[in-house]
Amino acid sequence: MENARSTIHGVWSKRLTFILAATGSAVGLGNIWKFPYITGENGGGAFVLVYLVCIAAVGISVMMAEVLLGRRGRSSPVTAMQTLTKESNVHGVWTGIGWMGAIAGLLILSYYSVIAGWALHFIVQSASGAFEGADSAAVGQVFDSLLADPQTLLGWHTLFMVMTMTVVARGVTQGLGRAVEILMPCLFVLLIIMVGYAVKLGNFSEGLAFLFKVDFSKLSAGSVLTAVGHAFFTLSLGMGAIMAYGAYMPDHAPVGKTVVTVAFLDTLVALVAGMAIFPLVFANGIEPSAGPGLMFVSLPLAFGQMPGGLFFGTLFFVLVSVAAWSSSISLIEPFVAWVVEKKLLSRVGASVVLGIVTWTIGLLTVLSFNEMSDHKLFGLTAFDLLDFITANLMLPLGGLFIAIFVGWIMKREIVRAELDAEPEGLFNLWYTVLRYIAPVAVLVVFAYPLIEKFSG
Ligand code: PFF
Repeated sequence: MENARSTIHGVWSKRLTFILAATGSAVGLGNIWKFPYITGENGGGAFVLVYLVCIAAVGISVMMAEVLLGRRGRSSPVTAMQTLTKESNVHGVWTGIGWMGAIAGLLILSYYSVIAGWALHFIVQSASGAFEGADSAAVGQVFDSLLADPQTLLGWHTLFMVMTMTVVARGVTQGLGRAVEILMPCLFVLLIIMVGYAVKLGNFSEGLAFLFKVDFSKLSAGSVLTAVGHAFFTLSLGMGAIMAYGAYMPDHAPVGKTVVTVAFLDTLVALVAGMAIFPLVFANGIEPSAGPGLMFVSLPLAFGQMPGGLFFGTLFFVLVSVAAWSSSISLIEPFVAWVVEKKLLSRVGASVVLGIVTWTIGLLTVLSFNEMSDHKLFGLTAFDLLDFITANLMLPLGGLFIAIFVGWIMKREIVRAELDAEPEGLFNLWYTVLRYIAPVAVLVVFAYPLIEKFSG
């Protein structure tokens, strides 16, 4: 029987709804803002290759595992892990997967919201004509003065948190579905238009070479860790977001096809964003390693020069904000769902309380670009440190434990029964990758800096 098991949060009627929600979660700032800037910082092609290999070899298998856990547990990730550890008769410490994820989500949202605030600010800047005919210095000035102004950053961060928590308070089964369905394709079309512009007026061949010409000498142990971390970040993996959405997935719906679709769309958006941005970067003498501002200083230059740029620029930042919005709700949903399930608070109450906690942690990121920019730990600002701890450590670690739990702890028959729509051969391939390749890959990447150190 379809949907025999259900959650107190509801169940989606169709697999398509899961695809939309998961794509809404996956496609966000990670693709359009973070992917280009970390690719720039890590030397281009070789980094992109490692990232692509990680998506294919680790990301897809872990995403299937997360959907499976969520659907079998049919509740928030923490409760799902409690149910499944009991079912497998193992120590409750495995519930830590759910906890670490809920906390990682909250920490990520604290800075994600500040960056989404930049996009909101750029909607207004774009609409008011600030980029019309502007040169790199003028666009850079708009960006730098935003970062230097904690009050403005705080205002946008607050607005974005309110937007996020409003949707979460209403429940994700009725969240942003429609908006995502219409606006994400618009964002994609707009990115393609920007690639067209980059072909015509940017330095397209240099941009493309930077993205796809592999030179392993540019790859450090740190870059490999960043690439692996980003594969998890961009697919929303390792922290229960996809698990939380998996809880709403109908029984017997094929997981493999669904997950591959989501991963494909996500990767496509990142690569297209890179192809729009890097030709502009090279044509305008911007440093590829300029850091988090890369997208915010390159694209407005193009909008300032192209016909209809005022409209396209404004629309672009609206769409980026919506993409960030549909991701942000999935960052906090695991925690909120748990509080609601435990009947600690109503959904609205949980959203308000956790929203305030996240907003407060976000102050660290707001200040890390100005007042606190000299306060560093291990050479990193508060923002860089939060990003490093969550994306490079917590998510891959979460993914590692998920792979071990599904691959080694849950009974094979149960796992097979959950994935009953998959053909035998594909199931075996996935199961092998999940048991061996995914954990070993993450472990090697974690151990690599140590190996490098001790081998001299
Ligand atoms: N995948 C989102 C992005 O690329 O912007 C960010 C994200 C959302 C990460 C949800 C993790 C998560 F659970």
